[in-house]
Amino acid sequence: MTCMVFFVCSLYQMLLFLLLVTSCAAIPQNLSEKMFTFPEATGTAHAKLTILKQDFNALTVCFRFFTDLSREYALFSLAVPSFDNGLLFYKNLNSFAVSVRNTDSSFEGLDFKLNKWHSVCGTWSAASGLAQLWLNGEPSSRKLSSTSNINGPIIIALGQDQDSHGGDFQAKQSFVGMMSDLHMWDYTLSPCEIRKYMNDRSYANGNVLNWNSLEFQIKGRVLIENKQNTCQ
Ligand SMILES: *[C@@H]1O[C@H](CO)[C@@H](O)[C@H](O)[C@H]1NC(C)=O
Repeated sequence: MTCMVFFVCSLYQMLLFLLLVTSCAAIPQNLSEKMFTFPEATGTAHAKLTILKQDFNALTVCFRFFTDLSREYALFSLAVPSFDNGLLFYKNLNSFAVSVRNTDSSFEGLDFKLNKWHSVCGTWSAASGLAQLWLNGEPSSRKLSSTSNINGPIIIALGQDQDSHGGDFQAKQSFVGMMSDLHMWDYTLSPCEIRKYMNDRSYANGNVLNWNSLEFQIKGRVLIENKQNTCQ
């Protein structure tokens, strides 16, 4: 009898322990009013984001960033086993590129300046195959991209370009600067919703990645700091 009670009890404790361990490893953080600071060019430092959904037929990603880099760099890199650029937001010398399943769309002539906060949203849907990039409230042309779903397992890195699934970073493609307010939705946001995000008015948080409840791991020197636009 005692043995039985002991057994039940320790099994319960073990389950509780496992539950705590798994939930501790996955506790989301509220990064409201925070930013990630990427202070140096490396081939290693990045933020690795955890995402549950692994199959997308449409999506929107929005974030804000600040930099004085005048070379090319990766901002958001989502890789799947068969496509290192499952979804990539990349800044080229004179344009932005969005890649879906390794199909690149280049967006030219968007008004971009160094040393300013920029709000970016990218949308894509397999049904139309169209990708579009919004920068500071201005839409780009809508361009043909992939017409197939993005299938996981998904690995997302901020601040590095995955040239393979989860790795092959290059310092010369790394991001140096600050990034904030990253959200991802599994559908295309309406232009009105995108404008709300860009004006930082009340907008709906991402339903697959939410800056106010984000699961991530920091690798190397990436700092979580307060945004510098408020007095406290
Ligand atoms: C995150 O923090 C902000 C500001 O403190 C708060 O308004 C918001 O409700 C929080 N969100 C979540 C999901 O906890």
